[in-house]
Amino acid sequence: MKYYFAPMEGITLYPLRNVHREVFGEGVDKYCTPFLTAASTFHFKNREKKDVLPEKCSKAFEDYGSQIEPQIMAGNGENFLWAAREMKKLGYKGVNLNLGCPAPTVVNRHKGSGLLQDPEYLDKMLKEIFGAVEAGEVVGGKPFNKRRDEEDLADLGRNMYPEISLKTRLGFSNPAEATELMKVYAGYPLKELTIHARVREDYYAGHPRIEDFIKAVKVYRQCGGSADLIYNGNVNSVEDYKKLQKELGLFEGGAAPGSDDSCHISGIMLGRGLLSNPALARELKGGERLQPEELKIYLRKLYDAYSEYIPEDRNVIFKMLEHWAFLHVHFKDSDKCLKAIRKSRSKGEYQAAVNGIFAKCEFV
Ligand SMILES: Cc1cc2nc3c(=O)[nH]c(=O)nc-3n(C[C@H](O)[C@H](O)[C@H](O)COP(=O)(O)O)c2cc1C
Repeated sequence: MKYYFAPMEGITLYPLRNVHREVFGEGVDKYCTPFLTAASTFHFKNREKKDVLPEKCSKAFEDYGSQIEPQIMAGNGENFLWAAREMKKLGYKGVNLNLGCPAPTVVNRHKGSGLLQDPEYLDKMLKEIFGAVEAGEVVGGKPFNKRRDEEDLADLGRNMYPEISLKTRLGFSNPAEATELMKVYAGYPLKELTIHARVREDYYAGHPRIEDFIKAVKVYRQCGGSADLIYNGNVNSVEDYKKLQKELGLFEGGAAPGSDDSCHISGIMLGRGLLSNPALARELKGGERLQPEELKIYLRKLYDAYSEYIPEDRNVIFKMLEHWAFLHVHFKDSDKCLKAIRKSRSKGEYQAAVNGIFAKCEFV
């Protein structure tokens, strides 16, 4: 089983990816970047571009091109194809199309999970994408850059696109929509299909819809879909994983041979679970539980990495508080110590408060 770090906007940026890889990396097979918007201006925002620059990503990774996967948010084939080529030029082996973001601003622009409302359009978009990939054709990009694009891509020949994967939900408002969507996905040579077992209207809440996930996988396979399947949703502990294994009919080492009831999946994508327990992927692979000493090191390195990324202690502390919102679960009776962390205004105050929580609260 493979374990992936889910894309999380504002969180799985390069400071976190590099530090996590350095301290806990042995369990995570691939890290997804938060989505980069493939805008119709054919231009990434500076902060998006920075997040995928090889010099920012290659330090902690032996092979960043296959261990990191940029995610792209696009509302049409042209924009996606341009962004995918840009990622290929930067050395990425695969990219992932976002079909899951539930934010109203995204949905209203017919992007992210907004595209799930219109399988016919999605089919057309994927046809355009895979048509261009197969033909090795430059589609999208600024017309006046076309010659430069072609020169940049000359070494790649027809191989100018990375492998393409999708991250989807089961539907927009009803999981029955998954049938139509899976039929569409099965028509294209996707590398991986990640299914977040919820619909858009669930956002991130409630129990994942396991029955509907199983049904969707079956439809996908019956329609000839051959991508590797990745499950996503609420795997926050080894116990959650064992329960999921049972529900999906999975057995140690993969699906039981010849079992029709088993739902074959190749990997699990972990989001909030890895934020609460950065050693989760290692534990799922049978490794050691999270140790307080390594968590301390992780937090210190993360602080330093964010200090290079954002100016001012206050902003770095805000970023660290996003992690503490998940990590506090390891400290028993920690309300007072957490309050001190939240109230800190300088690096010194913050570090003293963190030392306090480690010294005073039982680690669980
Ligand atoms: C703060 C936050 C930001 C997210 N940003 C993205 C994103 O950029 N792209 C994406 O596909 N999913 C995004 N997600 C969804 C996660 O990748 C994942 O699908 C979701 O959290 C469910 O998995 P989990 O239960 O393991 O956390 C985000 C989720 C959260 C909580």
